[in-house]
Amino acid sequence: MEIKVTKTQNPKVKPDPSTLQFGVEFTDHMFIMDYTAGEGWHDARIVEFGRIPMHPASTALHYGAEIFEGLKAYRRPDGEVQLFRPMENIRRMNSSADRMCLPLLDENDALQALTTFVELEKDWVPSAPATSLYLRPFMIGNDEHLGVHAVKHATFYIIASPVGSYYKEGINPVKIMIESDDVRAVRGGTGYTKCGGNYAASTRAGQRAEEQGYSQVLWLDGVERKYIEEVGAMNVMFKINGEIVTPALTGSILPGITRKSCLEVLKSEGYNANERLLSVDELIDACENGTLEEAWGCGTAAVVSPIGELAYKGKKYTVNGGKIGEVTQHLYDTLTGIQWGNKEDKFGWTLRIK
Ligand code: PLP
Ligand code: COI
Repeated sequence: MEIKVTKTQNPKVKPDPSTLQFGVEFTDHMFIMDYTAGEGWHDARIVEFGRIPMHPASTALHYGAEIFEGLKAYRRPDGEVQLFRPMENIRRMNSSADRMCLPLLDENDALQALTTFVELEKDWVPSAPATSLYLRPFMIGNDEHLGVHAVKHATFYIIASPVGSYYKEGINPVKIMIESDDVRAVRGGTGYTKCGGNYAASTRAGQRAEEQGYSQVLWLDGVERKYIEEVGAMNVMFKINGEIVTPALTGSILPGITRKSCLEVLKSEGYNANERLLSVDELIDACENGTLEEAWGCGTAAVVSPIGELAYKGKKYTVNGGKIGEVTQHLYDTLTGIQWGNKEDKFGWTLRIK
């Protein structure tokens, strides 16, 4: 695929790496590629980062035809830059596109878009501890009329933001509230995709939780409100009586790449790690009888984030004395070690950028 590069004449001053937040500042450029039915993807280009013109009737604005991904470029100790399992993100984007009737990407072209873009923005990959360049590929449907149909025009973009920790707590335990009113997704819906609408539907509960001092909500399944699903921006794992449990992918949960990587690490090391249904009653019983040993969330933005407190129906439960547990710390060290190039990548998960 040919990518036309037009470099900015006005490069920005890069932010102080010690003050980086999540997704606030953006790099100098963005990748854009258009899709037209019958013609396919065309006009791949990298241009100066800036506002995007939209038709007021655009499908994305009215019917939520939008999907996205999130992955990071990491600065290694030797100064080189690498991505973590980028093909997993590309495949998940295509699975989201399929569900939302948006056009699929050619996997190799999408990888070329990512690597060419990161290579150009390489100087934006920060090197301070726990910082990275967050990459946000996204696709919108942009037919310029109000009919509700599979779109004939779409645009794929990649933007990038140098980031620090997602939670202000960093690696310190976060407080999570189990949500019993709103639901995020149902089987047969879009829960397994990364579409903007999932996040729009999640915001009200997230906002209520924040007002009460919690970082995010833990969702229950949308049908019976009985089974644990995932947190707002991460999957969850628990260590209960020696067993590591994460909710099975029933269709309403995002199949996280960090979740998959944690499971692969744990299984390769002989841990008893299982994907299965986990009811909120089983979890609360474990909190009450002392068998809940650890709880953590895992996701690209949040990495591995210990959960120090759970709240459910007005009651609060402290997990592991509010401290990070042994398995949580081990997964954090292993994954961040591979991602930032401090540990051998024996799984072959990283991809160096030229
Ligand atoms: N669940 C939700 C709802 C998310 O937004 C994310 C973040 O991407 C995850 C889980 C974790 O997925 P991943 O590990 O692929 O980043
Ligand atoms: C990610 O971890 O990439 C996410 O998508 C979280 C995001 C919704 C902030």
